[in-house]
This record gives sequence, structure tokens and C-alpha cells, in this order.
Amino acid sequence: MELNIDRLTKQYENKIAVDRISITLSKGVYGLLGANGAGKTTLIRMMCGVLKPTSGEVTFNGIDVQQEEYREALGYLPQEFGYYPEFTAIEFLYYMASLKGLNKKRAKEKSAELLELVSLTDVRKKKIKTFSGGMKQRLGIAQALLNNPKILILDEPTAGLDPKERVRFRNLISRLGAERIVLLSTHIVSDIENIAGTILMMKDGQFIHRGSLEEIIRVIDHKVFECNVDPQTAEKMMSTYPVINIRENESNVFLRLVCDKKPCEQAHSVQATLEDLYLYYFSEVSDNE
Ligand SMILES: Nc1ncnc2c1ncn2[C@@H]1O[C@H](COP(=O)(O)OP(=O)(O)O)[C@@H](O)[C@H]1O
Ligand SMILES: [Mg+2]
Repeated sequence: MELNIDRLTKQYENKIAVDRISITLSKGVYGLLGANGAGKTTLIRMMCGVLKPTSGEVTFNGIDVQQEEYREALGYLPQEFGYYPEFTAIEFLYYMASLKGLNKKRAKEKSAELLELVSLTDVRKKKIKTFSGGMKQRLGIAQALLNNPKILILDEPTAGLDPKERVRFRNLISRLGAERIVLLSTHIVSDIENIAGTILMMKDGQFIHRGSLEEIIRVIDHKVFECNVDPQTAEKMMSTYPVINIRENESNVFLRLVCDKKPCEQAHSVQATLEDLYLYYFSEVSDNE
């Protein structure tokens, strides 16, 4: 099972949203992590065949993204997904199943199975307009799974979920990744740091880091420091180093920052996290320096 992306590029007027991305995906969970505007949705839409690339190609086991066979292997939850508020969960799944060409018997079986999988069996006869954000997203995943896809692509599926729903969601994704290619995009580090076997960190249309959590954190290993300093020293350090966390108390300022070597006497090295790496690249603080 191989999803192959080869020098994929999308240019909008004068903006290159996806810039010559090449990668091969196989079974497992991939976390596409990047700030708003990084190019995640543009990349995903090209991988789902709904946006034409400027150049480059997407194939699954050698089948082009525009071919029927590719579409049959694909399940997709778009970033802006249109639910039908007056439909019940089960009506919605039957409707989506008919669009995907499942016969009645198959639609019935599959819908029941998927409602169970996403824990919506109890509310299957309730209208979607009564659902919480998390329930809608789980229904969105269920519809993406109707055709038992080998490739499952979810664009910002955790938007609008509360913390409890997030945990539930992560468990579901982990299970799904056991037998298919799952790609999920997010700008929230905790959504993927523990479930993605591979993290793709995206910025300005390119993958700036890719690999397992351990591999990509290694970039800033031994470069994350914490210190408690007086406001003047803090000021100076903030203008010199990328600061990823600031907390002020009465007389001191607590800083967590990234730099090559110990930035001041009081500083001590701490374990780097994915959040550190993310903020290092995406936070306002480090951009302003
Ligand atoms: N239809 C479009 N026309 C022009 N620019 C676009 C269009 N869609 C997206 N962009 C631009 O491309 C960049 C990437 O956008 P997008 O793929 O939506 O990123 P993300 O999903 O990571 O937030 C942004 O700068 C965005 O403004
Ligand atoms: Mg997006």
C-alpha cells in the first residue's frame, strides 16, 4: 500500500501554497502539523482529487488521483464539511452511502457498524442539529469510512472539540491507522503528538520536518532552556533568542527558550517537546525578533 506524492505544487495567482512536495505514505497515522496558511488544506485537496495541481502528481499503488479506482480507495473529511441539520445521523449515513454507490443492504450494514465504531448508535435517530461539535466530527469520520477506504484523510477534524472529545477522537484515529493510511491535519500539537507515527511539519508550502516524534524533536535536543531572571535580563534575552514561554511573577520573569548554548548563568537545560519545536517555528514571539 503506497500513496505517492511527487513534486506536488499549487500556485494561486502569486502565492505558492504547496511547493514541490514529495513523499511516500504507507500504513499508519500521519500528522500534518502547521499554522493557518501553511498549505495543509491545499495539499489535502490535491490528494483527494478535488483541486488540480499546478504540477506534480498523486498516485496510490500507481493509480492516478483522477481515476475512479483512486476515489474508491479514498475517504475524506473536508475542513468545512456540510452536514444536513434536519437529517438524523442514520439518515445522513444512508444518504452519503447512496452517493457513494453502496446498495441498500450494504448501506444498512455499514452504517450500523460505523455508528457503533464512532459511538453514535444511541443517538442515531436524533437530528444532527442537536449534536455537539465532537458528535458531528465523529459522524463526519463515519461517512468517510463508508466505502472502507484504504486512505483516510481528515482536514482539521478536531476543530471545535472539547478536551474530553479530543481524547476520544485520538483513540478512534489510532485504531483506524492500524490497517490504512490515515492523514490528519491540525494546528494543535497535542492532537497528533502521541498518535502519529510520522509527523509532517508544514510551513510555507513545504515540509520543514518529517519523521517520528523522537526524530523531529531531536532538532532542538539540548537547546531548550528554562530560567528565572530579573525583568531587565529577560528583556535582553527575549530580543536575542526565540522565546517559547514567558511567565511573569512579582519580581522575576520565567522564560523557556531555544538557543544553541546556555543563554545565562541561571538557565538549565530541559527536555524538548514537539510544542517547543512548533512554537519555535510558528509563534509570534519568535517571528518578531
Ligand atoms: N483559492 C485560493 N486562492 C488564493 N489563495 C489561496 C486560496 N486558497 C488558499 N490560498 C492561500 O494559500 C495558502 C495556504 O492556504 P491553506 O492551504 O488553506 O492553508 P492551511 O490549510 O494550512 O491553513 C494561504 O496563504 C492561503 O491564503
Ligand atoms: Mg486548512
